[in-house]
Amino acid sequence: MSNASTIVILTGAGISAESGVATFRAADGLWEGHRIEDVAAPEGFARNPALVHQFYNLRRGGLKTVQPNAAHEALARLQRDFPGEVVLITQNVDDLHERGGSSSVIHMHGELHKVRCTACTVVREWETDLDETMACEGCHTVGTLRPDIVWFGEVPYEMDTIESALTRAKLFVAIGTSGHVYPAAGFVRIAQMSGAVTVEVNNAETEVSFAFNKRMTGPATEQVPKLVDWMLSGKS
Ligand code: APR
Repeated sequence: MSNASTIVILTGAGISAESGVATFRAADGLWEGHRIEDVAAPEGFARNPALVHQFYNLRRGGLKTVQPNAAHEALARLQRDFPGEVVLITQNVDDLHERGGSSSVIHMHGELHKVRCTACTVVREWETDLDETMACEGCHTVGTLRPDIVWFGEVPYEMDTIESALTRAKLFVAIGTSGHVYPAAGFVRIAQMSGAVTVEVNNAETEVSFAFNKRMTGPATEQVPKLVDWMLSGKS
């Protein structure tokens, strides 16, 4: 890696698992006991907004009880000490990268600490519980605030920035993501077609493992610090 290189990192639920945040695809196919289409799709929200608010209120509240782990902290160290560019993209809606010290994070699937008004489209920071009786501070419409989470069938955030970073990447690393959900699952292909070396860090084989040049198998808290040491070792 030269000083001018670009490293692109994609993280998924597996990086936060050892902090105690549940991953999405449990063996029963449910997310914390709910069908994904009920709590992570616009149709589910239209059918039962109270259930969806309650679901995300619990997740938002739960963030207070979890801490960033060694993998989040290692990526913050990489962003701080690597002389080239480090683009950190996460599918996670938690704030553990930021609390682990990362200064710049692309939340392609949104954030638990933000809400969006479906009437005036304004996005606001949000720390407390949300429900369907609340009014938007901007346009004063009642019942139009929703979690600023990208649900199934919706377009992820910052795709132009992400695609441009992938095309200049010398190294692409996917950490703790199952490769089930597109477009993120296709990033390895874009990076590879642009000439990047690709590395997967996961504690199990995934749907897309075969597409990577190298695999590091094991818990993120062990593998990511090792990988970061290696990425920083040739920095001078
Ligand atoms: N260390 C490394 N990898 C781990 C660990 C760990 N400690 N624990 C779990 N994993 C891996 C699992 O093997 C799995 O491949 O993390 C992955 C988690 O996969 P998912 O639960 O499917 O999460 P993710 O890939 O982030 O999901 C993508 O799907 O539901 C949507 O929008 C939601 O952002 C989410 C997207």
